[in-house]
Amino acid sequence: MTRRSSQTPGPVRVRVPGKINLHLSVGDLRADGYHDLVTVFHAVDLVDELTISPAERHTVSTEGASAAVPTGGKNLAGAAARLLAKRTKAGGPVAIQISKQIPVAGGMAGGSADAAGALLGCAALWGLELTRDQLSEIAAELGSDVPFALAGGTAVGTGRGERLSPVLARTPLHWVLALADGGLSTPAVFAELDRLRSHADPPRVAGVQDMLTALSSGDPAQVGAALGNDLQAAAISLQPGLRRTLRAGLAAGALGGVVSGSGPTVALLCADPAAAAEVAAELAGSGTCRSVRVASGPAPGARVIG
Ligand code: C5P
Repeated sequence: MTRRSSQTPGPVRVRVPGKINLHLSVGDLRADGYHDLVTVFHAVDLVDELTISPAERHTVSTEGASAAVPTGGKNLAGAAARLLAKRTKAGGPVAIQISKQIPVAGGMAGGSADAAGALLGCAALWGLELTRDQLSEIAAELGSDVPFALAGGTAVGTGRGERLSPVLARTPLHWVLALADGGLSTPAVFAELDRLRSHADPPRVAGVQDMLTALSSGDPAQVGAALGNDLQAAAISLQPGLRRTLRAGLAAGALGGVVSGSGPTVALLCADPAAAAEVAAELAGSGTCRSVRVASGPAPGARVIG
């Protein structure tokens, strides 16, 4: 299956983006424990960087993380290196160092980004000539968001999020990201949505078409108005303070705001970089979040930078 080109002696450095879900509609629980969803992924320039080198044994180390990152077999970057070796019958043990900007358990797919980075980096280190489609197939085995972290840009995701079709939306979007204290577990947030839906029928987001139309207009105010996420009510139910963060961001002048994925990061869309700087300053002083970051998208997917 795999052709080999010359092996890079290493180390290989890879940069990989975090994501925001501009739109996320969640269907019912499937028999396999996942939910069918329709989402619009949007990669932003809040990135993790991985350095991957040949080693005596597999190791993963992390710096700059906002919270404890899983180690050993539970770390998705290490799992990615092992799965790639198994599928291609190539490679050997690697040391993966991760410099993190993407919040841990923040709803921005940081763990998935690291898995995508490890796949791309190991493929380069081992001289594997895999197509993006072949890598994407292996990525989907690792997690629903991993194929998007490879692809980047803006894309509609269906199935459990792993089936992608790109959206040509090149207008830059300027964001303020409000990072929360602590993280939220993705399965716990999906389970909370199922629980909320079993008691009442919380309102569901509109169809994806509104967001696609807004993106093609290139008008950030339209994009702001179309932001929507079915997981938001569940994330707020588990972390009620997020409501205050959203309110504070909108009061500071954001065009729209949404909990990113399963949260607890809140993404606030701003008209331009100057507005983002103002919203960030005001939000930082509001006491409604741990810290703020300014970011913009769409950002490219995982890529080798050296
Ligand atoms: O695919 P991934 O490992 O990232 O998913 C983590 C968990 O999130 C799943 O085990 C499931 O509980 C939940 N999930 C879901 N429906 C999806 C994606 C994730 O219920 N489409």
